[in-house]
Amino acid sequence: MSAPTSRIVDLGPEDGLFAPWCEVWAASERADRPEDPSRPAQEHLALGRELVAPGGSRDGVHRAAVVDGAVVGALRVLLPRKDNPTVAIVDVAVHPDARRRGLGSALLASGRALAAERGRTVLIAEVDEPGPGSPGRAFAAAHGWACDLVETRRDLVLPPDEDRLSALEAEAARAGAGYDVRTWQDRTPDALLDDRALLERRMTTDAPHGDLPVEEEEWDGGRIREYERSHVARGRTVLSAGAVTRDGRLVAFTDLQIPLAQPARASQGGTLVLREHRGHRLGARVKAAVLREVAERFPEVRRISTYNAESNTPMVAVNEAFGFRPAGRLSSWSARL
Ligand SMILES: CC(C)(COP(=O)(O)OP(=O)(O)OC[C@H]1O[C@@H](n2cnc3c(N)ncnc32)[C@H](O)[C@@H]1OP(=O)(O)O)[C@@H](O)C(=O)NCCC(=O)NCCS
Repeated sequence: MSAPTSRIVDLGPEDGLFAPWCEVWAASERADRPEDPSRPAQEHLALGRELVAPGGSRDGVHRAAVVDGAVVGALRVLLPRKDNPTVAIVDVAVHPDARRRGLGSALLASGRALAAERGRTVLIAEVDEPGPGSPGRAFAAAHGWACDLVETRRDLVLPPDEDRLSALEAEAARAGAGYDVRTWQDRTPDALLDDRALLERRMTTDAPHGDLPVEEEEWDGGRIREYERSHVARGRTVLSAGAVTRDGRLVAFTDLQIPLAQPARASQGGTLVLREHRGHRLGARVKAAVLREVAERFPEVRRISTYNAESNTPMVAVNEAFGFRPAGRLSSWSARL
């Protein structure tokens, strides 16, 4: 079919078109994963405000494809400011009723041009793949992008099996007798902030990134606080657990993000154990601690999703031991300008 007459317009989070722009993401998500709640508009609004505010660690641009006055396609381009100066992260969605008419391609071309104008030479995009034959994969491949990383999504249905959880907890406590576990919500304790920043930096070097052309990210305490505020603004609460040495150093952490407006499905954020502290079952220990927290404080969470490269055998083994089971894939793609 030939492309309809469409316009691509820039918009900001305070524009009248922003609500229908958010609805395009929601309709697209409902079509592709009907069993999951779609992201609420507040997520996009808060992220949008963060991206256009000066001084943050990322800039961002929002564009809409408009046909006959209606928003039918959405583009977001993220431009890291503190690291990865050559990278632009693009995300495109087209309303299910308006697909296969060239609108996705038009938005992508506009994102490419914008990235080039901003001096970026690498584009990166993620594609959610609930099952085989996802439109995003076909679209990325049709545009000649390279698939650099495939992660398996695994879901754990809550509550977890109590026997399994307590056995894992006991085993992990024995193996990590020299460490204490601490938990917190939304705000890392001040004394642990610099260590938490190092762990976030290590997430960008130690977690498998396949062939993705990304470099180590710059994290400090200030950026951790920005990240924490951003979650709260987006309507999420973050439950965290960390392993602390006897002299008070945070050496492992896990984050669990709960969208408060629709808490049925939570997402595992990062989990990392510093290299020199591996082999003490600290990954399992902090995950068990956060599962206890969620059961006690947010019993409305019914499912947790986590994403891992299959090459990340230790993390996959921990997740399988807790009862996480495969629920599709997330692929990451890149293109050079
Ligand atoms: C991926 C997506 C943006 C494509 O939007 P679109 O407007 O339908 O894309 P286009 O019409 O420009 O498609 C361009 C080409 O991609 C390929 N393509 C797109 N969707 C496809 C599908 N469902 N099956 C097979 N090929 C597909 C085709 O080669 C197509 O060209 P053709 O229609 O001439 O055969 C849309 O399906 C979507 O919103 N998906 C969910 C979000 C997503 O996965 N985004 C990708 C992250 S960047």
